[in-house]
Amino acid sequence: MDIATTPTSPEGNPELADAAPTPHDPPVIRREDYQPFPWIVPQTELEFVLGIDSTRVTSRLTIKRNPETESISPELRLNGDGIKTDMVMIDGARFGDWSMDEGDLLVNLPGESHTVEIVTHIDPSANTALMGLFASNGMLCTQCEAEGFRRITFFPDRPDVLSTYRVKMSGPKDLFPILLCNGNKVAEGDGNDGTHWAEWHDPWPKPSYLFALVAGDLVANSAPFTTQSGREVECNVWVREEDLARTDHALQSLHRSMKWDEETFGREYDLDLYNIVAVSDFNMGAMENKGLNVFNTKYVLADPDTATDADFDAVEGVIAHEYFHNWSGNRVTCRDWFQLSLKEGFTVLRDQLFSQDMQGEAVKRIEDVRILRAAQFPEDAGPLAHPIRPDSYREISNFYTATVYNKGAEVIRMMRTMAGAEDFRAGTDLYFDRHDGEAATCEDFITAIEDGAGLELAQFRRWYRQAGTPRIEVSQKLGDGDGLDVTFRQTVPDTPGQKNKGAMHIPLRVAVHCRETGALGEEQLIELRHDEQTISLPLAGPVPVLSINRGFTAPVIIERELESEDLVFLAAKDDDPFARYEALQDLAVRHLVAAASRELDQAGRAEGKRLVCDAFRSILSDPALDHSMRGELMMLPSETYLFEAMAGSDPAGIRKAEPLEIHKEREQLKTAIGVTLKRELESLYAQVADIPYDDPAGRGARKVKTQIAALFAASDPERAAVMASRQFDQADNMTDRQGALMVLCGLQHPAREERLQAFYDRYQGNALVIDKWFTLQALSLHPEVLSHVKTLAEHADFTMKNPNRVRSLYMAFAGNPQGFHAQDGSGYRMIADVILALDPINPQTAARFVSPLGKWRRIESVKAGLMKAELERIAVTEGLSRDTFEQVSRSLD
Ligand code: ARG
Ligand code: ZN
Repeated sequence: MDIATTPTSPEGNPELADAAPTPHDPPVIRREDYQPFPWIVPQTELEFVLGIDSTRVTSRLTIKRNPETESISPELRLNGDGIKTDMVMIDGARFGDWSMDEGDLLVNLPGESHTVEIVTHIDPSANTALMGLFASNGMLCTQCEAEGFRRITFFPDRPDVLSTYRVKMSGPKDLFPILLCNGNKVAEGDGNDGTHWAEWHDPWPKPSYLFALVAGDLVANSAPFTTQSGREVECNVWVREEDLARTDHALQSLHRSMKWDEETFGREYDLDLYNIVAVSDFNMGAMENKGLNVFNTKYVLADPDTATDADFDAVEGVIAHEYFHNWSGNRVTCRDWFQLSLKEGFTVLRDQLFSQDMQGEAVKRIEDVRILRAAQFPEDAGPLAHPIRPDSYREISNFYTATVYNKGAEVIRMMRTMAGAEDFRAGTDLYFDRHDGEAATCEDFITAIEDGAGLELAQFRRWYRQAGTPRIEVSQKLGDGDGLDVTFRQTVPDTPGQKNKGAMHIPLRVAVHCRETGALGEEQLIELRHDEQTISLPLAGPVPVLSINRGFTAPVIIERELESEDLVFLAAKDDDPFARYEALQDLAVRHLVAAASRELDQAGRAEGKRLVCDAFRSILSDPALDHSMRGELMMLPSETYLFEAMAGSDPAGIRKAEPLEIHKEREQLKTAIGVTLKRELESLYAQVADIPYDDPAGRGARKVKTQIAALFAASDPERAAVMASRQFDQADNMTDRQGALMVLCGLQHPAREERLQAFYDRYQGNALVIDKWFTLQALSLHPEVLSHVKTLAEHADFTMKNPNRVRSLYMAFAGNPQGFHAQDGSGYRMIADVILALDPINPQTAARFVSPLGKWRRIESVKAGLMKAELERIAVTEGLSRDTFEQVSRSLD
């Protein structure tokens, strides 16, 4: 059923069956109901008198009737959320003709244009939801996307109302020596009683979601950037004094992003100032407010002692992402929130391409696909599935999803693949040209790419409308001539509210190799458009092996009968690095799914392990691989991916995932690899153990080292404990230290507690590193993980008020099958309790914990019942937030 309709009662729950929709049932917003706003707001003036627990906000809006609408209603609706006003002034005089509707303020205006002045008082210190103006670590900052501005003042809080902002703020100089806002500072001065003030002006019209304000005791790491046209931009990374030493990487990443966007997309920055501020309490990663990005500290602070290689990459990627939004998001923004993927999908693609250029294309591509499969494929297969351009929502915060972001990026990547980089660039140039200064739609983007890149995307538009991961069944036979006839049968699975979907337009890069001669076929791009079609591909030799979806050109699931020997061949020999990775994954997935489904006898089990070990052996010894790629190839498919493969591999939908079986089999496979390849692994370890941190091969070496220790943890725990303890003790960087501690955390060995304590003592007080300490324990393979998490929740450093800390413990735990899927349901209960405890504090973050429980339909029946019962317990709780209500009701439908 459609997610948009009122949730019906799940069968068998009398409590819910009786419940009629209550007045608290939040309304459904639909894409098709879009109406332009009847007013325009050319100018917005704000004045803030700042205080941690009391801030006064005065807003002065210049409004005019929108000439593009025909509305003659006198009503002006200004959105508000939990705020009040005592007084409304119109054109400078007190005005009585206003009323409240839910949180909104309605004013009846007689004329064509007016000024509207409203005063509100807010308490940032009480704002635990972290939307609007809130206090974090003694400073004040804002988060307005998507609908946080209405928690600050009354305003048409929708992305298609663009306004020019002038903002004055004042506050105590000792608490808030630094006062920042969007745009440029135009004036400042001292006030009475130790206060000071600053006035900022942003020349670029923007929607309210891009507004930002920061006040606090901050210091900056600064360095100018000269743009391609020779303008100098002052770049600052603002942090608390004690964090200043860890900001160089962020600042350099910003400069690299600015340069790259000029070279690759022809986009130049458009203000003289670029500010980034790091805050420790933040719901998401970061926010692209015009000229004043606000970041989660996690994506700013990095040095070798406290951040892993992956953390460095994440900082670089998120800095780039927010910077790239200046064009894809700010200069061209979204008409309404259904168009979110217009800016997010495109900007994720842009940051992925940037990181590919910075970090290496092959490894980055594999990592992005791994994220897509771990986060987006499950979403597309579950109750929260939605198209990249959703049709309806109750709470837009729930749609900042892997689908909108990551699948959105894949969809645009397919356009780029079909057009080629150069023509695609012509398409994006046209898009930016055509829509600069506008609030655009996904349709506008597609049309610009069609016109500028010369593509025809009529059928391709289905990617925007249809949810669900397409499945392509592939079969092959030798044709009459010298070709291989390959038949493709595609289906798009039913998803909530969507059935009987049309065929997708799918680009696939393919090649046909020969297993006998080892000849590699030439790659070509084919485009599927039909439910079923056969394409003849040229042969490279007598024993054809099809290499398909090379580089992961399309976000689909390929299903095919392939001889295991073919997979072993592809894993060892394919010239496309992604295809090589994929073959290895397939080999492991096949074995693990069959084993976890108890389809294998002793001999079959041994054979499966042997094949994976053979492929692994070629990876360990291949001199052509660098260690980074080797480390990537050595990663077994994640348990989440195996869960998907197991629940989704049965077309009739009868087979259900058994997470504990998956876990057990995966551990056994690691044991087999560790035992069979002991010598090879030892010698590889010796080869990489002493490569120094700064060596060009250092990164790859660190990855390989920890992979090896993790394999030994399964095959020879005593050996692993010695290895990991040594790695921990000798580490001169966080990557080695965290990797070693990760291995130790899974062992029942005295070294575990010793090193955990040492790690804690060393980093006590460093919030980001202590987050790692919580995560390592919550993710661990230790059999007692559930009781460890219970104990950690009582730790003095644990708090429900900080989203990073909550996620570090409980998101990690929810992703740990051994704990979360505990036989007796105690893992499910723990997460449900977290949702209920967190919902009144921070609904946005609470709602994110619903999706792990929402997997119940795809899991074996005993656990399914336990999970569903927890969702039902949440559903009947009084006073749920809109966020959690929506996710829970969709999950039970
Ligand atoms: N636009 C931000 C980004 O770059 C995400 C902000 C979303 N925030 C929120 N509270 N929903 O991805
Ligand atoms: Zn974004």
